[in-house]
Amino acid sequence: MRPELWIPGPTEVRGDILSAMAAPMIGHRSAEMRAVIQGLDPYLEALFGTSAPSHRVAVHSCTATGLMEMALRGSGERVLCLVNGAFSRRFATIAEALGKEVVRIESPAGAPPDLLAAQQQLCGETFDAVTVCLSETSTGVAVTPAEVSDALGERGGAMLVVDAVTYLGAAPIDAAANGLDFVLAGTQKALALPPGLGLYAASAAMLERAAAAHDRGFFLDLIRITEAHADGRPPMTPTISLHLALLRQLQDIEAGEVELELTDEAAEDLAQLDGWQRRYRRHARMRDMTGEFLAARGLAPLGGRPASPSVTCAPIGGRDVPALLERMLGRGFQLAPGYGDLRDTTIRIGHMGDHGVGALAGLLSALGAELGAD
Ligand SMILES: Cc1ncc(COP(=O)(O)O)c(C=O)c1O
Repeated sequence: MRPELWIPGPTEVRGDILSAMAAPMIGHRSAEMRAVIQGLDPYLEALFGTSAPSHRVAVHSCTATGLMEMALRGSGERVLCLVNGAFSRRFATIAEALGKEVVRIESPAGAPPDLLAAQQQLCGETFDAVTVCLSETSTGVAVTPAEVSDALGERGGAMLVVDAVTYLGAAPIDAAANGLDFVLAGTQKALALPPGLGLYAASAAMLERAAAAHDRGFFLDLIRITEAHADGRPPMTPTISLHLALLRQLQDIEAGEVELELTDEAAEDLAQLDGWQRRYRRHARMRDMTGEFLAARGLAPLGGRPASPSVTCAPIGGRDVPALLERMLGRGFQLAPGYGDLRDTTIRIGHMGDHGVGALAGLLSALGAELGAD
């Protein structure tokens, strides 16, 4: 039996989406492909909470890591990195690899990014960019875009570069209202698609900054890729199947019907909500269900505060993590161990994408039986 994927991405992909990906190839310079690429934009604007001219949205045929590098190449030389786990650290690692001057503000594992320290640092010094991760997948700790925006609203000329990889599609971003300059994500998390396509929104200020940067390269050139996206003609062969899948998924999400199958709430209770709101509400519910499940067993998500809308990292009270994960596999559920130093003491559950509330209840019931058996 193939286990269900409940790791923090990639996650399960619905059959309808897999079928959309199986469509025959089309020419990447055809009018049909152009229509697919340009057809994404209204949905991407709804997803990121932006509209032209304050921000422009685009996709690029690379994973989120490529977009992290794209943002750093385009935003200047001095970078302030808020590091509270492995993925937020990646921004600092990439910036250093690019020869930038990096200042890190480190928080212990399980803590949120230290926004206050960043605020103080930005008051005293000039930076070209500040990086922050909304949902640190290695620890399941999240901050909201509004928290980030409130703390870092005054930042001199620093571009606010935001990793929303396990946040986008699970909770609202409102990039324009929150003044975020560059927000990036991939497809394999809360959007429940295969990996391989990056999505971003860039502010007018970010685009202006990038236009003046001299080391943008070619493949990760924010200006080249954004312009080409707007024209529907990427400068390389795009991941055509993934574009088709993304368009189908965004259409389905906006229509809101799929949510009726994935939630346990009555259709009339959701009638006033659009498709995005329904999806965010289900993700919040799944996060809360997971938190309540842990609390009932005297456990708590790492960090003690409400976990990310898509990933919970749970210390499991001295139990043997590999053995527990193996027994869960036997029950048909693939979970992940903690990341790095947390590998032997925690498990991670990816309650994201197109996993339904009923399916999560099934997983938690199996996990409860296994935890009880110890
Ligand atoms: C928060 C976060 N940022 C960045 C990445 C990197 O994404 P990718 O592996 O798709 O490049 C991941 C991947 O899990 C992530 O969870």
